[in-house]
Amino acid sequence: MSEGPSPRVVHVRWPETPLVCGDVRLRELTFDDAGAVAAAYGDPEILRWTARRTVPHTREEIVAWIGRRLSDAASGLSLYFAVVDPVDDRLLGGASLGTTNTQDAATMGYWVVAHERGRGVATTALRLLCRHAEDLGFARAVLWIRDGNVISDAVARRTGFVPYGFDHKVALVTGEDATPVERYERVLTSAR
Ligand SMILES: CC(C)(COP(=O)(O)OP(=O)(O)OC[C@H]1O[C@@H](n2cnc3c(N)ncnc32)[C@H](O)[C@@H]1OP(=O)(O)O)[C@@H](O)C(=O)NCCC(=O)NCCS
Repeated sequence: MSEGPSPRVVHVRWPETPLVCGDVRLRELTFDDAGAVAAAYGDPEILRWTARRTVPHTREEIVAWIGRRLSDAASGLSLYFAVVDPVDDRLLGGASLGTTNTQDAATMGYWVVAHERGRGVATTALRLLCRHAEDLGFARAVLWIRDGNVISDAVARRTGFVPYGFDHKVALVTGEDATPVERYERVLTSAR
C-alpha cells in the first residue's frame, strides 16, 4: 500500500539578490547590529507585543542571541533580517522568516524602531519576507499576533493576511503574561 507523498520540508536560505523595496532593505543581521538592537529593545512596546522570554536585554545577551540567530540560519531553520535604510544602512527594525512543523508554511515576525514607525516600514518588510518565502518554495505564511495589537493587525491585513482565531497552544507557550495570540495566514502566490 502506498504511504503517499513524503512531506516536503522547505529549508530557508538567504536571498541571492538584495531584498529591497523603496526605502526598506532586508539584510542578514550581524554582530555589528548589537548596539542598535540593544537600543531598540529598550522600548516597552516591543516587550509588550513580542514573546518576552525571547527578547534579550543586556548587550552580552544580545550578542549571544545574534549568534543563535546566525546558527539557525546556517542550519536552514530560520533567517533573522536587519531591516535597514538602503542608503545609510541605519537599523529600522528586525524581521524573521522561519520554518514550521507544517511543511509548506513559513512563520514570520517583525518589529520597528520606535522613531521609525508609522511610515510603512513594517508593511514593506513583511511584503519582502513574503516575496522571499515564495521564492524559497513556501506555499503559505503564518503570523501570530497578540490580542490587542491593532497596529500589527493593520500591517498583517494590509499585506494580505487573514486572521484565523486564537491559538490555544501559542497562548500557553507565552503563558508568563497569558495574552491570547491570534493566528494569521496568507497564501503565497504572487507575493510581489
Ligand atoms: C507593529 C509595528 C511593527 C508596526 O510598524 P510600522 O512600521 O509603524 O507599521 P506601518 O507603518 O507599516 O503600518 C502601521 C499601520 O498601523 C496603523 N496604526 C498606527 N497606530 C494605530 C492605532 N493606534 N490603531 C490602529 N491602527 C494604527 C497605521 O495607520 C498604519 O496603517 P496605515 O498606513 O493604513 O495608516 C511597530 O509598531 C512595532 O514594532 N511594534 C512593537 C512590536 C510589535 O508589535 N511587533 C509585531 C508583533 S506581531
